[in-house]
Amino acid sequence: MVREGRALVDQVSWSVKEGERWVILGPNGAGKTTLLNVASSYLYPSSGTATILGETLGTPGTDVFELRPRIGMAGIAMADKLPKRQTVLQTVLTAAYGMTASWQEDYEEIDEQRARAFLDRLGMTEFLDRKFGTLSEGERKRTLIARALMTDPELLLLDEPAAGLDLGGREDLVRRLGRLARDPIAPSMIMVTHHVEEIAPGFTHVLMIRQGKVLAAGPVELELTSRNLSRCFGLPLVVEQVGDRWTAQGLPLS
Ligand SMILES: Nc1ncnc2c1ncn2[C@@H]1O[C@H](COP(=O)(O)OP(=O)(O)OP(=O)(O)O)[C@@H](O)[C@H]1O
Ligand SMILES: [Mg+2]
Repeated sequence: MVREGRALVDQVSWSVKEGERWVILGPNGAGKTTLLNVASSYLYPSSGTATILGETLGTPGTDVFELRPRIGMAGIAMADKLPKRQTVLQTVLTAAYGMTASWQEDYEEIDEQRARAFLDRLGMTEFLDRKFGTLSEGERKRTLIARALMTDPELLLLDEPAAGLDLGGREDLVRRLGRLARDPIAPSMIMVTHHVEEIAPGFTHVLMIRQGKVLAAGPVELELTSRNLSRCFGLPLVVEQVGDRWTAQGLPLS
């Protein structure tokens, strides 16, 4: 992926199989969001190929407008595109029609039930009639995840879903994402995060990138090591598993 003559992600060979739940870790500017944008078919590789849900981008047989509804994306960029004056329920409902605005008032009853169910799953039932623009950061994130689930995607992409949340909000979200990750009928998931503490139980694989290159990719238990994490972030780090969660810290300077 080249922009302004510079490779943003380079020689990334990575495949996600059905049912896997991946975490992408890497420093600021490593190329995590770029990779998600390729995975969501909004960015085409300038060299190499990207095959998403069996469809290879940029080949004659692939219609991105058919592919996109099969992918749910919840990221910061999405929040800015959604009308602030829409209610939470409308915000989720409009996803069913592939729109960001709500000009169509006669939604199917079944869609409304689905929207309510996803919002309930994310703990948003008491906010159904609130204007999207008045939500707190955490409430907005939970709404976006419910919205991303609305099209019944085969692939769910989450870009830093816990960023900006307080400790309670983070733990609540990690619990909910963990429930989703362990649900066998939930979509394949890819989550970008900056903190190993945000890796919910149920996430199976980790991809570590640095300066657009893959440093490690594989099962969490094998690849989420102090050695890999230290190389990834460029400083000595110790990662530990505490129960079914992870924690990392820098080594004290001696
Ligand atoms: N359109 C563009 N033109 C030029 N450079 C770009 C463009 N888009 C992204 N970049 C650069 O590509 C690199 C990777 O960006 P990306 O947003 O993927 O990083 P990231 O890993 O998501 O970082 P963060 O953790 O800060 O979100 C960055 O150095 C960024 O400045
Ligand atoms: Mg990013």
